[in-house]
Amino acid sequence: MHDKTPLVTCKDISKTFGSRCDSVTVLDRVSCSFYRGEISLIQGAPGVGKTSFLHIVGLLDPHYTGSLKINGVEIEGLSYSDRRLLRRRHIAFMFQSDVLFNELTLLQNIYITTCDKRTHRTERLERAGACLEAAGLSKRPDEYPFMLSGGQRQKVALARALFTARPILLMDEPTVNLDNAASRELMRAVRSHVHETESTAIIVSHDPLMRGLVDKRLELRGGKLSA
Ligand SMILES: Nc1ncnc2c1ncn2[C@@H]1O[C@H](COP(=O)(O)OP(=O)(O)OP(=O)(O)O)[C@@H](O)[C@H]1O
Ligand SMILES: [Mg+2]
Repeated sequence: MHDKTPLVTCKDISKTFGSRCDSVTVLDRVSCSFYRGEISLIQGAPGVGKTSFLHIVGLLDPHYTGSLKINGVEIEGLSYSDRRLLRRRHIAFMFQSDVLFNELTLLQNIYITTCDKRTHRTERLERAGACLEAAGLSKRPDEYPFMLSGGQRQKVALARALFTARPILLMDEPTVNLDNAASRELMRAVRSHVHETESTAIIVSHDPLMRGLVDKRLELRGGKLSA
């Protein structure tokens, strides 16, 4: 069905927390692939290991066994700096309660996290404004986060992730504090982004509404990830 290299390939990924006598295995030989142009949803009970999985895929946690490939590149054996480079080129995060700095404008909140010294400031500002628009926020870029609702704040967080222009968007409970209308709006922006840029979004969520808004649904239970 897919003829292209997956952006993320997991093969027999296992993850155990704790020591030998007091341990919990959250991932037990998980294998899956995530492709361009696809929005995937990972559901599962609280504490089942969803965030742990995202941290491994996002190259934040190197303590696992198995094979992980990002855009075809095997992670095992890479140096710390190569790993960091790969993360910077490929991975954007959006967390459950993303931190916005109240003393900075919306625009500054977006471009402050990416120190791209090669691009001219004016160009960066323009692109940050375009990302706010792409995230579906109809607020002036010179307003401040404390003036925003929860849904609007999440759109700024999404704009920040989009600004990085990285093809793998990892989202941990992005709609947890939002009502259905705000969640749908956010997901509309994610969908346009994923399709237009041929990126992939992997979303971890409890929100039942999400089930109808994604392309692929997976369930994590007892360490196993299944469709
Ligand atoms: N640093 C850690 N040390 C020990 N155990 C941990 C650590 N981080 C997570 N765990 C345990 O691993 C399990 C999975 O945690 P994780 O945060 O991945 O779950 P989750 O599915 O994201 O949960 P939630 O839906 O509540 O966010 C939990 O039982 C948790 O207590
Ligand atoms: Mg979690």
